[in-house]
Amino acid sequence: MAKAKATFICQNCGAVTARWQGRCDACGEWNTIVEENETGGIGGGPAGMTRGRRKGRVAALVGLSGEAEEAPRVVSGIAELDRVTGGGFVRGSALLVGGDPGIGKSTLLMQAAAALARGGHKVVYVSGEEAVAQVRLRAQRLKAADTSVELMAETNVEDILATLTASRRPDLVIIDSIQTVWTDIAESAPGTVTQVRAGAQALIRYAKSSGAAVILVGHVTKEGQIAGPRVVEHMVDAVLYFEGEGGHHYRILRTVKNRFGATDEIGVFEMGDSGLREVSNPSELFLGERNDKAPGAAVFGGMEGTRPILVEIQALVAPSALGTPRRSVLGWDQPRLAMVLAVLEAHCGVRLGQHDVYLNVAGGYRINEPAADLAVAAALVSSLSGKALPADCVYFGEISLSGAVRPVAHGGQRLKEAQKLGFARAVLPSAGAEAAATRGLGVQEIETLAHLVAHIASAPAQTDA
Ligand code: TYD
Ligand code: MG
Repeated sequence: MAKAKATFICQNCGAVTARWQGRCDACGEWNTIVEENETGGIGGGPAGMTRGRRKGRVAALVGLSGEAEEAPRVVSGIAELDRVTGGGFVRGSALLVGGDPGIGKSTLLMQAAAALARGGHKVVYVSGEEAVAQVRLRAQRLKAADTSVELMAETNVEDILATLTASRRPDLVIIDSIQTVWTDIAESAPGTVTQVRAGAQALIRYAKSSGAAVILVGHVTKEGQIAGPRVVEHMVDAVLYFEGEGGHHYRILRTVKNRFGATDEIGVFEMGDSGLREVSNPSELFLGERNDKAPGAAVFGGMEGTRPILVEIQALVAPSALGTPRRSVLGWDQPRLAMVLAVLEAHCGVRLGQHDVYLNVAGGYRINEPAADLAVAAALVSSLSGKALPADCVYFGEISLSGAVRPVAHGGQRLKEAQKLGFARAVLPSAGAEAAATRGLGVQEIETLAHLVAHIASAPAQTDA
């Protein structure tokens, strides 16, 4: 039965089909199915596996208790990066850094490489996308040219591994990018699932066996997935995403998966003329220019992992000329906005059915927390009523479908950050108030959304005098 048979593999999700199809049944993507050679494909194993079956070797079974050491780490000294990795790159682990093309992945990793090299670590940078001269040019721009980073422009995995094992073991290896590497053992074109998977596997095996930390760079499709090889995400120990909005200068490094640390941390950077600069106080970046004359802006006291971040939420509510009014959201969930609008209509008598609603999170930041509900509602009501909210007030709280405002976690930390940045007032759900007792912040407790609407409506109107 061992007749070489071609299989068809979806380049998006890795599903295998027996014949070509226009649409993948597994993930629903169109035109992603490509013919690939069976050996080495998904579900395939090392060549010859089906021939001459060998008897399995008996491995030792051990208990859960016993010696376990803290993962040894290589610390870059770039605080925003080390926070996201959970305290430095773990030796013998593989890490995937994903992001849109042009977002700054190569820049970030070159800076990390230079920082580590300055700290006396041996770093190898493998560039599969750019020629040596191009990488050198970037290194000069980043003032990293004088460091001991070793550079290689190579895309064949066997050649890369041979080079790496020929000299002293590096502490960190950067593969830029995984989509460009290819291995002799798989027959498909570079960039296909089979190639990327086989290449990643070989490099991860190298990481585990040698003890070097290996970073794989991966490009992300416009849908936000690491192009093609989602399989790589499962194989590596940690996945970081580097993201940013077009037209804005800052970039956020986010942990998506981390076997050695927390997954909700972010690192904030700003792209400048000579590379990425760390932003240690991101709130200042996302607050925008506050002014208490303009209606429709509310400051949200948010959290990212262990770090509080204040963000300005801007809303514009305007009478609509359309039969179905427009709902446009940047930086937040569309369904979540629909929910807040529905609760405002149903429980607070705020009529928005004839209005276009635009919602924007300042600075291209993205909020993932339901705690932003209250700030969004405040911004919407403020814009609709034309009454500006006080510029020194923060809002946080989750809104339930019944119109109640629910407390959220880390109230104390959110308030502390607000106070640090000069805010004097906070509007929050009632149970969050005990957290504020210690601080000199003027706290307004809100039990229901209707309560918030009444609170905004009763405030004296600000005039443009
Ligand atoms: P790059 O790191 O090449 O992105 P990626 O590897 O994710 O594709 O970054 C490319 C962008 O960054 C490019 O548009 C130029 C810009 N850039 C700066 O603004 N300043 C700098 O110092 C550098 C090196 C790049
Ligand atoms: Mg690059």
